[in-house]
Amino acid sequence: MPTSEFKARRALFAEQLPDNSITLVFAGQEVTRSNDTEYLFCQDKSFFYLTGFPEPDAVLMIEKVNGSVSSTLFCLAKDPFAEVWHGKRIGCEVAKEQFGFDTAYSLDDIDSVVEDALANKHSLCYCQGHNPQHDDQVYTWLAQVKAKVRQGISAPNSLVNCQPIIEELRLIKSDAELDVMRKVSIISGGAHLRAMEKTQVGMFEYQIEAELLHEFARNGARFAAYNSIVAGGNNANTLHYTDNSGMLKDGDLLLIDAGGELAGYAADITRTFPINGKFTPEQRTLYQLVLDAQMAAINAIKPGANLGQLNDICQHILTEGLLNLGILKGDLSQLIADKACKQYFIHGLGHWLGLDVHDVGDYQMKDKRQTRSFQPGMVMTIEPGLYIPAGDQNVDQKWRGLGIRIEDNIVVTEQGFENLSEQVPKSVDDIERTMQNAKR
Ligand code: GLY
Ligand code: MN
Ligand code: MN
Repeated sequence: MPTSEFKARRALFAEQLPDNSITLVFAGQEVTRSNDTEYLFCQDKSFFYLTGFPEPDAVLMIEKVNGSVSSTLFCLAKDPFAEVWHGKRIGCEVAKEQFGFDTAYSLDDIDSVVEDALANKHSLCYCQGHNPQHDDQVYTWLAQVKAKVRQGISAPNSLVNCQPIIEELRLIKSDAELDVMRKVSIISGGAHLRAMEKTQVGMFEYQIEAELLHEFARNGARFAAYNSIVAGGNNANTLHYTDNSGMLKDGDLLLIDAGGELAGYAADITRTFPINGKFTPEQRTLYQLVLDAQMAAINAIKPGANLGQLNDICQHILTEGLLNLGILKGDLSQLIADKACKQYFIHGLGHWLGLDVHDVGDYQMKDKRQTRSFQPGMVMTIEPGLYIPAGDQNVDQKWRGLGIRIEDNIVVTEQGFENLSEQVPKSVDDIERTMQNAKR
């Protein structure tokens, strides 16, 4: 993504900051996996959104005085010895040039530079409560400035949480962001297709996970956006199943919920298909019901619609279907009023998607009384499911142990919507054909 994109984001962000303020946004930190080994580093997504800067421990400072804005980056200084062990650092000079900051300092200088900048400012903005270490750090700097009162220096007396401003910006994706999200969706869709083609009775779930990771990485999405869920049979009834240790059994379904991460952006796609390539009549019936509900919800997406309306559409279809199959019993309108299908559709219909898989952004209108209306540039998942645990004594034996979810990634457009993951086989016929062709 070009530097101009990040500079434009910082400019939009700064417009909403109070005047006579200092704003601090902190990068992520390395996380220990065990003893002296770390997890591969994941940048803080809000810091990344505003900077594109990939290294840990950095800090972005934005100064706004009389409407004039300047940006400063603090980052790890170049250090030939450390770089031999841990890899190249970008360093201040290159950081300023390549990432478009007005100034860049070594982190070694951060205390004095931030304390000087805070002097006589009215407001201090940062993402409060996000990380206790950052809270402590900010209060330490404030205390240092307050201690200079006898020198005629005043400290900011207004603390502003700037997280909601960043979240609102992140919610509406730019054209450059949508381009990346299209790419990560195509890569992730390719991984789902590969998984369908590789699946065989007797394999282990983690072997299918390996196929997904292989396909993500070889296409440039080095990381999975979240731990892949590869859940055979009744394992699909554990929503966040990530053990991926079971053996794939003849006659079971396989639910795969997996997405790659490209340039920081996530895909979040789920497909459910028969391990032996052919749906049983019960599997086909329940699958088609989830698919009908998902398609109806997706087709209702347009500017001005909202997740509440989509939920109503989806729940109506699921309830009617479950009643017709004898899985729910009673009067249709009463069952709908009681949200009876939630017994088997046990999670939300979807969520925002972007730099985070469960991306930031409010789901309510400003007055908090209504679900937020869709606007072009929002990206969300639509992911209805039906889950009937193996031990559910309330339903006929033939339905037990089925867990089905279908999840696509949808952009709201001026005209309606764009389905980023529509290329991944989804109809009963397309799935069976894909699997049959792969096995010949
Ligand atoms: N992969 C997590 C979710 O679908 O929300
Ligand atoms: Mn999801
Ligand atoms: Mn998912």
